[in-house]
Amino acid sequence: MKKVAVLTSGGDAPGMNACLRAVVRGALYHGLEVYGIKRGYDGMIRGDIYKMKSYSVSNILGQGGTILKSARSVEFRTKEGRAKAAEQLKSRGIEGLVVIGGDGTFTGAKLLYEEHGLPVVGAPGTIDNDLYGTDSTIGYDTAVNTALDAIDKIRDTANSHDRVFFIEVMGRDSGYIAVQTGIGGGAELVMVPETRTTIDNVISTLQQGWDREKSASIVITAEGDQEGSAQEIAAKVKAKCPDKDIKVTTLGHIQRGGSPSAYDRILASRLGLAALEGLVAGKECVMAGIIKNEVVYTSLEDAITKDKPLNQDLVRMINILSV
Ligand code: F6P
Repeated sequence: MKKVAVLTSGGDAPGMNACLRAVVRGALYHGLEVYGIKRGYDGMIRGDIYKMKSYSVSNILGQGGTILKSARSVEFRTKEGRAKAAEQLKSRGIEGLVVIGGDGTFTGAKLLYEEHGLPVVGAPGTIDNDLYGTDSTIGYDTAVNTALDAIDKIRDTANSHDRVFFIEVMGRDSGYIAVQTGIGGGAELVMVPETRTTIDNVISTLQQGWDREKSASIVITAEGDQEGSAQEIAAKVKAKCPDKDIKVTTLGHIQRGGSPSAYDRILASRLGLAALEGLVAGKECVMAGIIKNEVVYTSLEDAITKDKPLNQDLVRMINILSV
């Protein structure tokens, strides 16, 4: 293998740049030419591909976002789109690809491998931490810290005004961010998509606090919760508890930005190098992950389809500590 390419795709995550830096520097260390693809699969289809040097990734280790930019490509979801994309790489003699992203990115990478035989190795870059085959995804730790910072501030004003706050965090269909921020932020309750918490459950939990004259409460809701958005949940609670002062904050995309934490910088560097070296060693259609501090490779199929359950010990702990 002489030429490889790298892209970032899907929702950006803090640490993607650190991962890219590791892929590029790792490729150069192994004597390969390395090409950056702009705007994920969209850029691949359009041939927005350029040769990267060591200096191309200087001073990006601590930068949020992705210098390669990202996109969610609609055209790449078609067979014709993928054929165009594969041709762009083939015509440049590119023999392997590292993709940095989440499940949508890996679904596309798997199809590229199956339909065009292009060896692909993924590095898990998503704040959601919803990929099987790695204890943590790149960006998850930073997103949790960002959310926590906001929750601490909301707690101050919630206390001052004796209010109930419903705070919605990201995570798509996963409750990982919600559980971590719930524990770190001392939430009274955490609502996650993986377990149904009814509105009556919410009220009875809050009632326990009100009975003890608890003046303020924080409920963290994951965006994919079965009862709906934080706005919807708060409206349902308000309908049953009209005398309560209820407010809603949706943290939104603030969770995706910012300089990556030390943990994410190190994780991203390890996973970027592991993805590149996996490709060099002949791995195909896998994701590099870290489990119990060791690099492991998991098939892309397993990474995107296997369940990554929440740690029930943590969920149990929230119930005990919030009382
Ligand atoms: O996958 C990362 C993520 O931030 C999810 O938590 C969220 O559901 C989604 O992306 C939002 O995507 P977009 O930025 O395209 O609206």
